[in-house]
Amino acid sequence: MNRYLYYSPAISLLLCTLLFPGLSQFLYNPDDNVEQLDFASFESGLSEPTTGKLVKFFNGFCKDSQHFMPAFRKLSRKLYKWKRILKVHVFDCAKDENLKICRSFIIRSTPTLRFFPTAYHRDPEDLGTEISSRNVKEIESELALYLAELKYFKLFSREDNVKDIFRDHEHVKYIAMVFQMCLFNFMPHFETGNSMEEKQASLDDCNKDNPIVATIGRNTLLELLPYNEIAVRVFDDHQVYTKFNISPVPNLIVILNRNIKPLFLTPEVDTSEAYVAAIRQFLEFSDFKPHKPLLKTLPTNITEALRYEIFKQHKNRPQQIYRADLERAVDQILKVELPKTSNFVGKRLSVVNNFLRQLYYLSPLKPEAKEKLNNLYNSMKIKSRVSGVKFKELVLKALKNYTFDGKQYVGCIASRSFLRGFNCSFWALFHYLTVESESFHAGAVVQVFNGFVKFFMDCNDCRNNLREFKKIRPLSDVTQIDQEILWLWEAHNYINKQLAGGSSEDPKFPKIQFPSERDCPSCRDNQSEWRTDEVLKYLKSIYSLKNLSWFGMASDSAYTYSDFEK
Ligand SMILES: Cc1cc2nc3c(=O)[nH]c(=O)nc-3n(C[C@H](O)[C@H](O)[C@H](O)COP(=O)(O)OP(=O)(O)OC[C@H]3O[C@@H](n4cnc5c(N)ncnc54)[C@H](O)[C@@H]3O)c2cc1C
Ligand SMILES: *[C@@H]1O[C@H](CO)[C@@H](O)[C@H](O)[C@H]1NC(C)=O
Ligand SMILES: *[C@@H]1O[C@H](CO)[C@@H](O)[C@H](O)[C@H]1NC(C)=O
Ligand SMILES: *[C@@H]1O[C@H](CO)[C@@H](O)[C@H](O)[C@H]1NC(C)=O
Ligand SMILES: *[C@@H]1O[C@H](CO)[C@@H](O)[C@H](O)[C@H]1NC(C)=O
Ligand SMILES: *[C@@H]1O[C@H](CO)[C@@H](O)[C@H](O)[C@H]1NC(C)=O
Repeated sequence: MNRYLYYSPAISLLLCTLLFPGLSQFLYNPDDNVEQLDFASFESGLSEPTTGKLVKFFNGFCKDSQHFMPAFRKLSRKLYKWKRILKVHVFDCAKDENLKICRSFIIRSTPTLRFFPTAYHRDPEDLGTEISSRNVKEIESELALYLAELKYFKLFSREDNVKDIFRDHEHVKYIAMVFQMCLFNFMPHFETGNSMEEKQASLDDCNKDNPIVATIGRNTLLELLPYNEIAVRVFDDHQVYTKFNISPVPNLIVILNRNIKPLFLTPEVDTSEAYVAAIRQFLEFSDFKPHKPLLKTLPTNITEALRYEIFKQHKNRPQQIYRADLERAVDQILKVELPKTSNFVGKRLSVVNNFLRQLYYLSPLKPEAKEKLNNLYNSMKIKSRVSGVKFKELVLKALKNYTFDGKQYVGCIASRSFLRGFNCSFWALFHYLTVESESFHAGAVVQVFNGFVKFFMDCNDCRNNLREFKKIRPLSDVTQIDQEILWLWEAHNYINKQLAGGSSEDPKFPKIQFPSERDCPSCRDNQSEWRTDEVLKYLKSIYSLKNLSWFGMASDSAYTYSDFEK
């Protein structure tokens, strides 16, 4: 292979744009001035001592988070101008390893925006300042308020030593001193300070505890952040002028070099725009340039980005079973597969009713969903015959406006269309039910599985495969819960063997004798024979309720429902 092809970013960018024309497949791009934190980097990221942080807690599978993504991208790019004092972070609450942090920061819904000051340390009394607006402009001005409380904005006071003025600004060449009137200090005879920005101040707002009311100094400071060579110091006490031996005149900006030698600028009017223009002119005259602008980036194709995230997840956790797949299976069985049947009567009816009971008692659905399935069961159990059409009506009536949080396949995602999906999730659901079936009599779950394949599966080969397997392992052999788990495992492996290498095999998910040697080294002895006690242990562990992953669920339940916290 050509090494160059692997390592050249230019080539990979080219490949990327060829594969995804016009859009990027990453949820967040560092080139958009966003840094993603995870459970390991979260605390150290927030404790960083020089900048404030804007953090977006999100779950990319939720509609609300998806809708906000384009605006947030615009925001983070805009906030690049403040990068000297503000970092923009995202934190993914969809990831299981991040859930603990989302819970402890009491994230109730996503997206949630919080501002954290410099050197933040986790404190149950202060979990950041929530920003509720979703409007880019509004968020920006709210952030300006919070940033103005950072040490960076500390007013220069008459007690401060002029010699120390560069102390917290090691790397700048100039300090611009900007007078910002505070009505608390207002001297009626004093001439300066009567712009629109100054007039926003009112006597009520301005006092000893809250001296920064006028915004001309703050806005000038914020606008000049892209110039690394200068820092703005604001003062609201006209006595400060005398420390520099200056007699004040209106609209005076004092520029100090590192030798504290002053230079004076007099903007035409008393607005931050005019102040910024005057200082910028001075900087450009001295050949100082603002930060290089951000590179152009492609907007995200969210569908593609989530697929990419799911495949990344598979790579990191090959043995994981997902709630989202189990919910997809339930949804599809109730709304699509079962309604294909013309009539439920006799054995068929009892298979459906038993299935509904098992979902109610064993499934990982939310309590709200289980309640609705219970209603469905109650309306079914009094009937001796139900048509498929009627069944669908009953389902929709019972569920009302409820929609499942699992909206896409995660463990059962396919690398191309028409593969995996429902068939895969169907297996996963029944494996899960066998493992969690303690409260049912031995064999109850596999009898429903068998009934479903026999009566409702729209696939002759499937029925035949299972019939052949039952000749080797009759259902009547299943007399204990553990045997039930192993019966389904063996059936599945029997069918995997028939299908391996065939057209229904997804090359990214080959049909193996499960579990693989790598995922469960102890499951085989050194003659490669199964050690069923170990297989059983393995199945019980991966399919247990406690080990199901929340990743891929379009809801905040993982961190908000306290009864799910285990
Ligand atoms: C009774 C039955 C008969 C079928 N017959 C056919 C057929 O003739 N032709 C056809 O094209 N399709 C058939 N299917 C569908 C087929 O089994 C697969 O579901 C489908 O091809 C999708 O394959 P998959 O790669 O998603 O893996 P699946 O086989 O669907 O497995 C899903 C997941 O379950 C886990 N798993 C795999 N094996 C085991 C195991 N032994 N124990 C526990 N967990 C396991 C793995 O994590 C795997 O990713 C049948 C399905 C059933 C239920
Ligand atoms: C995103 O990608 C999917 C294919 O994965 C495509 O169907 C869809 O049209 C794309 N969306 C946009 C906005 O381009
Ligand atoms: C369903 O509708 C009820 C009112 O009929 C409402 O209170 C509830 O929030 C809705 N639930 C969903 C998930 O939309
Ligand atoms: C499930 O498997 C059957 C049998 O191979 C097939 O006919 C059907 O298309 C598959 N469905 C999905 C969603 O893969
Ligand atoms: C076979 O397995 C046993 C334990 O199950 C082990 O003690 C022994 O060393 C193994 N033999 C070989 C040849 O790997
Ligand atoms: C969950 O999985 C871990 C290993 O990944 C295992 O140690 C643990 O026992 C499992 N939990 C349950 C309840 O099976």
